[in-house]
Parts: sequence; structure tokens; C-alpha cells
Amino acid sequence: MRVPMIAGNWKMNTTVSEAIELVNELRRGLDEIDNVDKVICPPFVSLATVRELIRGSSIKLGAQNIYFEAKGAYTGEISPLMLADLCEFVIIGHSERRQYFNETGEMINKKVQAALRAGLKPILCIGERLEENEAGRTEEVITEQLRSSLAGIEHLSGLVIAYEPVWAIGTGRAATGKQANKTISFIRRIISQKYGKEIAQDLRILYGGSVTADNAAEFMRQLEIDGALVGGASLKANEFLSIVKQTSEIKQVT
Ligand code: PGA
Repeated sequence: MRVPMIAGNWKMNTTVSEAIELVNELRRGLDEIDNVDKVICPPFVSLATVRELIRGSSIKLGAQNIYFEAKGAYTGEISPLMLADLCEFVIIGHSERRQYFNETGEMINKKVQAALRAGLKPILCIGERLEENEAGRTEEVITEQLRSSLAGIEHLSGLVIAYEPVWAIGTGRAATGKQANKTISFIRRIISQKYGKEIAQDLRILYGGSVTADNAAEFMRQLEIDGALVGGASLKANEFLSIVKQTSEIKQVT
């Protein structure tokens, strides 16, 4: 049985005081739901403060990025060792990092390896761009992204995959539940070929891209989809709570 997971990627939003306000709005409602892993990923500068605010609750913490070296002269970067002290999860390979910060498959692979070495659970993001989708190349792109990001990795140890079609991120144009379910089932097949059936069955694979309180149920009803990585809607406490609640209800019966 895979425990469903809803992760909120706050991206480059919220000052420290806004983060405190948002966590205070979320805390009680999220804590009441116990059959879903609830993860919030605020900006680096708020991690320590948020960690204190959620202490004693069932809310989990994640970061949005990581550097692959342990320490040294890498001005401005944050290492796995620093994060391992603060949080449990880390988003790696988000399409915005690939697109705006030129992260390559090789870098993402190093980041995944470094995170796992430090005991962090990567939320590895993969997904095709619009032109790739329209050219019918989704499966080819995903196969290559999985090959490069997981190269040399023998144990997935808590890793989570988020399937996020780039054309659906921040656009208000979500995939359909069926489309996402089909691609996620394909991802599970690739993982099964590389790591075996059992590992693939245990691996959590989320959908991400314009998930809202209005469309969340459509995704959660799909058997292959184990939850969501939520961007914009994770900044509104009511909306995020509603997504988590709907997930809890739907996954309890399916
Ligand atoms: P969105 O972002 O929900 O705002 O589309 C999702 C993501 O980038 O993870």
C-alpha cells in the first residue's frame, strides 16, 4: 500500500513572516488528516522557522532544490548536509530549474545521488514539454529523463517521482486524470524494468501541473496516481487543505 502524498511547492513566494502566517493557517487542518503525507516546501530562508512551527505535528518539510557537493567554495548554494538537518524531502529537477537554471540530466543525477547519500528523500520531477507532447514523444522523453536522473542509483530509498508535464505547470491547463494516469503507469513500468516489480509497486508517483481544489479529485481517483505536487494552489491555505482532504477521502476507498 502506497501512502498518498500531497506536497506544496511554494516556489519563490512568501517572506519569512508570510510563511509563518501560511503555516499557522495550515497547521491544524493538515494535522487532523492522517492517511496522507502532507509535505510543505517553503523557500530555504523559511525552513528553520517553519520547522519549529510544525514540530509535534504530522506535517513534513521539504526544500525546493539542493547542490550536490557537501561543502566548500560554492557561493550561494545549499548542501545536502545542511538540508538533512532541517527537512525530510527535497524537490529535484523541477522543470523551472531545468529551464531557467540550465540544469541538465547529469546535474540532476548528481543531486539525486547526493540527496540520497545524506538521507534526504528526493521528489524527482520529470515531464515533457508541449512540443514534445504534441509530437507524440512523451514516453521517449520520460524514458530518457528517468535513465539520466537515476543513472548509477541502486536503491531508491524513499524517493518519490512527480510527473509534471511542463505545459501544465502554472498555466491553468492541467492534464486530464486519464492522461496523467496513463503516463504514470508508463513510468511505473520503466521503474519496474530497472528495479523490479516490488520496488515499482511501492514507489509513489505524483501528478503535478495546475492542480487545484476543483480538479484534484479527478487525479486522485486514478489508481496509479499517488498524490500531487501543487504549486500555485499550495499558497492558499483553504485550497491546499481542500486538496489534502479530498485526497484523504478518495484514497481511503480506492
Ligand atoms: P502549479 O505548479 O501547480 O502552479 O502548476 C506545479 C509545480 O510546479 O510543481
